[in-house]
Amino acid sequence: MQNHILVTGGAGFIGSNFVQRWIQSATTPVLNLDKLTYAGNLQNLASISNDPRHTFVREDINDAGVVGKLFEQYMPTSVVHFAAESHVDRSIHGPADFVKTNINGTFTLLEEARAYWSSLKADAQQRFRFLHVSTDEVYGSLNAGDPAFTEEHKYCPNSPYSASKAASDHLVRAYHHTYGLPTIITNCSNNYGPYQFPEKLIPLMVLNAMNGKPLPVYGDGKNVRDWLYVEDHCEALMLVLRKGRVGETYNIGGWNERTNLDVVNSVCSILDELRPSGKPHASLVEFVKDRPGHDRRYAIDATKIANELGWKPKETFETGIRKTVEWYLANEKWINGVRTGEYQKWINLQYISK
Ligand code: NAD
Ligand code: DAU
Repeated sequence: MQNHILVTGGAGFIGSNFVQRWIQSATTPVLNLDKLTYAGNLQNLASISNDPRHTFVREDINDAGVVGKLFEQYMPTSVVHFAAESHVDRSIHGPADFVKTNINGTFTLLEEARAYWSSLKADAQQRFRFLHVSTDEVYGSLNAGDPAFTEEHKYCPNSPYSASKAASDHLVRAYHHTYGLPTIITNCSNNYGPYQFPEKLIPLMVLNAMNGKPLPVYGDGKNVRDWLYVEDHCEALMLVLRKGRVGETYNIGGWNERTNLDVVNSVCSILDELRPSGKPHASLVEFVKDRPGHDRRYAIDATKIANELGWKPKETFETGIRKTVEWYLANEKWINGVRTGEYQKWINLQYISK
């Protein structure tokens, strides 16, 4: 069972896109370790459920004993670490899980990776990579006109989510600096595309609009995010894994800054065309109470990864958002599967009981 890559969080949104892409294009088998929280979904992996190159284990990255045994058993050549609590609004309601998984969980994974890596022969040690998938939110908020985040931007996380991701980045960096563990960190902007859990802006708006429900835009709707199509992100990660320099950070972004209102209007106009409802979907927009501490603007300067590794996103926002809306329209079974009691509980807490 040697020479797998160990992917954590591979049943979530980005992780499942990554694992599917990996299985399509690489020969190394995948050990997919995921706790299957509300955000993890085996339906995301249905296309590879019978593929012998994909092994799924329902485990927690906080369980050092289990993680250590999996390292011994599968002898991974690399770790790609996606597992996290990922939703900012949930971190505001309940930060404890974010500290537990994003900080303590990453620490446990690093410790087990270090113990395993130390036991390898020199050439295997050199080839090993620990790729930590992080976020642009660690850099804090930009004002209009500020230059986009480069890898040198100072850390200034503003939410419990981004603070927990920043802490995990620092641990990863320290494990390279102190122990020589061959780590690489990527910080990427807002992903969108197939299999995204409908608590995040784009899928929430698609589903609500499809069902004639209000489209809750926080504050004035002018907050800006830099949108990255998930397949472009996964391609960048594969490249970083193969060619990225150890100890480095790479920012990954879509060069697609949009206000939230622009994003919602784009979704609405695609739905007007593909699923007309008699009145413009944009008439469902409702401005609601703002997110506490809401970061105004994120923007990624992805020059380093372009210059060093030759990566550029393939999708524009216009092509990516159309593909995304089409995917949700074509996958009602998947949608019905994720709208469980837990999802309804969250929608009631965040949008109805206020
Ligand atoms: P997601 O919430 O869709 O998926 C997270 C996955 O991790 C789920 O499958 C969940 O079951 C699993 N998980 C959670 N806690 C776990 C634990 N203790 N042990 C094992 N598995 C656990 O998240 P996503 O949007 O796919 O994000 C993946 C990673 O990318 C995260 O680290 C996130 O911080 C980062 N990121 C996401 C975005 C984005 O726009 N979605 C942007 C930048 C960075
Ligand atoms: O920037 C990268 C980050 O992007 C990732 O690290 C996070 O894991 C991911 O969740 C995402 O964080 P955001 O907070 O930017 O994403 P979200 O989809 O929650 O919100 C996008 C913007 O839309 C944000 O400005 C808040 C706003 N919003 C969101 C929701 C859910 C609304 O106006 N209404 C909503 O109902």
